[in-house]
Amino acid sequence: MSSTLGPTNGSLGGPPPPTLSNPKRIVVGVSGASGAAYALRLIEQLLIRGHEVHLVVSDYGRRLLFDEAGITHLDFANLCPTIADAKAADRLVIHPNKDVGAVIASGSFLHDGMVVVPCSSTSLGAIATSSGSNLLTRAAMVTLKERRPLILCHRETPLNHIDIINYQNLSLAGAIICPTNPGFYLKPKTIEEIVDFMVGKIMDLLRVEHDLKTRWEHSATIQGA
Ligand SMILES: Cc1cc2nc3c(=O)[nH]c(=O)nc-3n(C[C@H](O)[C@H](O)[C@H](O)COP(=O)(O)O)c2cc1C
Repeated sequence: MSSTLGPTNGSLGGPPPPTLSNPKRIVVGVSGASGAAYALRLIEQLLIRGHEVHLVVSDYGRRLLFDEAGITHLDFANLCPTIADAKAADRLVIHPNKDVGAVIASGSFLHDGMVVVPCSSTSLGAIATSSGSNLLTRAAMVTLKERRPLILCHRETPLNHIDIINYQNLSLAGAIICPTNPGFYLKPKTIEEIVDFMVGKIMDLLRVEHDLKTRWEHSATIQGA
């Protein structure tokens, strides 16, 4: 599969601007923060749109997938129960988190960006300090060094000062800090709509087309304002 990597942002050190070319190859990391639904919806949407997904789940990410979604086995059938197209299974590659020799640990493996969703403070800190010894954090660090888009969907509140310093360092290194922080201006009625708002934001950052409801189109003015 060809990659759609573009030129780097040069001295700014930021990620290259992703393109809308298809299909893309996206690395998804799931760590042990609340919000399994975001990860599952993102994986589903990428696969049904024909993209290739390389998935790595931390130990606590596995626990979260079980606690929040009842997933006991990491495989296509359990992760993507809504996808009927069997060919999509071929586009989901699941890497063991202990295998720091997996392809996504190498800068020579071309891809179009990595998303860590949800991203725990532990993984955030490990990536920020390049101290990670598992595949998820290694792949994220490699994504940064190769100047590819790295989107970190951190989930914690409130933030401590170390999280804030980590945000700053990661942002300076080119990561996109994208906390799981949904807006409510589209007046969501269901949890699924709230999840889709966030997943649509992530897909925008990946420059992946989608039809999830994320966009503000309201133009009415308040009487008397
Ligand atoms: C049920 C549950 C929910 C958790 N939610 C969060 C969370 O929202 N944010 C966070 O930073 N850590 C959360 N944690 C703690 C992390 O899982 C823990 O710090 C772990 O070390 C993260 O490791 P990992 O980044 O390798 O997955 C949660 C743990 C459990 C068991």
